[in-house]
Amino acid sequence: MTTDSRSRFTLIDILRVLGGVLLLNAFFSWWFTSTPTWGYRGKWMDTNYLKYRALGNDVNMTLSELSQYDGTDKKLPIYLAIDGEVFDVSASANIYGPGGAYHDLSGKDASRVFVTGCFRKKDEYTYDMRGLDEKEVNEDITSWKEFFHNHKKYWHVGVVQHEPITGDPPEPCEHIKFPGMHH
Ligand code: HEM
Repeated sequence: MTTDSRSRFTLIDILRVLGGVLLLNAFFSWWFTSTPTWGYRGKWMDTNYLKYRALGNDVNMTLSELSQYDGTDKKLPIYLAIDGEVFDVSASANIYGPGGAYHDLSGKDASRVFVTGCFRKKDEYTYDMRGLDEKEVNEDITSWKEFFHNHKKYWHVGVVQHEPITGDPPEPCEHIKFPGMHH
């Protein structure tokens, strides 16, 4: 092979081959999984997540700022907080947006109701954990934070500043325990 013929293998050729491989890959992926990504639909396909990863600018919000992110405003992402940690759960607008089964959890830090499961009692939607069993709180909150951290479609976006707790703690309620369901 002469130097001459080698130099004819240009960047365009490389791009052409690469493009062909990618196209073939997408074609087969579509053929077998009806998606161009071999069935993957997680957060790495979400432009908002990619933007967040690229910029890395965590939020540090007040509770009143957080309350705007409950899915009512379609232009904003949906956030929920647990133990002061804020997660983007926009991928499940059907669950956390208006009309969703767990809409009441979004736009706030409702750590308490994650432990008690007393969803019908309005004053449970708080981070006031007074009166609850400390061990149970630690276990449940840790496991829910892990759930949101490790979820394939949700991600941690930053923190919310808690305001000091005032007044009486919520009255005790009948805990719901569903071992193994979400933990
Ligand atoms: C301490 C009690 C409970 C807590 C804190 C809790 C919380 C949650 C949360 C946060 C989700 C959404 C998970 C996600 O983002 O994918 C969820 C999903 C779900 N929960 Fe619960 N839950 C509790 C008890 C129950 C009980 C007793 C039932 C059944 C009667 C139930 C039924 C469901 C169902 C069906 C889903 C799936 C919703 C969907 O994918 O559309 N949960 N739960």
